[in-house]
Amino acid sequence: PSTAPLQGIQALVTAGPTHEAIDPVRYIANHSSGKQGYAIAAALQKLGANVTLVSGPTNLPCPAGVTRIAVQSALEMLAACEKSLPADIAVCAAAVADWRVDKIASTKLKKTSATSLPKLNFALNPDILASISRDGPNRPGLVIGFAAETEAVEENAKSKLARKGCDWIIANDVSPQTGTFGGDNNTVLLVDQTGSESWETMTKNAVAEKLAQRIVEKLKLNT
Ligand code: PMT
Repeated sequence: PSTAPLQGIQALVTAGPTHEAIDPVRYIANHSSGKQGYAIAAALQKLGANVTLVSGPTNLPCPAGVTRIAVQSALEMLAACEKSLPADIAVCAAAVADWRVDKIASTKLKKTSATSLPKLNFALNPDILASISRDGPNRPGLVIGFAAETEAVEENAKSKLARKGCDWIIANDVSPQTGTFGGDNNTVLLVDQTGSESWETMTKNAVAEKLAQRIVEKLKLNT
């Protein structure tokens, strides 16, 4: 039925930042609020999809009818995503930290003197989008990533599309003056193998609804 075109479709959506612990009281994070990813989860659910939302720490309520798995770190997010596969569609809107602190201190780091400063060593986090996009029996038929850029948006998005092996990239400028992080609006560019299409500035809910419509059209073409 046209009211629930995604009935029977399993969707995995990631949203929010990750928190990478330094010690029991401190962490490294970024400015993602989760709004764009939550809006996508809600839009897919409204069209009838069965949605699992793997979310980093946010202040947002879980959208009605969506199953949320709350995580903190990138390693936890990867494990939760792997558990949520297989899925027909994956949308990775989370702002996953690229690096984590390699040894999390088990007790609070002490400020002992003005001159002895802590030194943090980093380890590379797994790339969740690339891992979901990898060929295999669990690869969703449609994998959509985001690209958060502060320069050369289209160029960087195209290279992420190739590098990560996903089907579409939704690119957005996250420079401070854009208000993309945490705001209610977004200006995006949809990039696929054939080219790119820029969408006018609209609310994150409208971006989510338009993306959900595109997903419906794409799945129809594939059947
Ligand atoms: O949360 P909001 O305040 O609403 O803001 C929305 C947003 C700006 C966070 C969102 O629209 C967005 O751009 N999300 C992706 C943020 C990001 O981390 O982009 P990236 O260019 O660093 O990563 C590219 C892609 O790889 C993303 O799909 C990301 O989820 C994924 N990734 C990145 C690193 C990593 N270790 N694992 C990943 O899966």
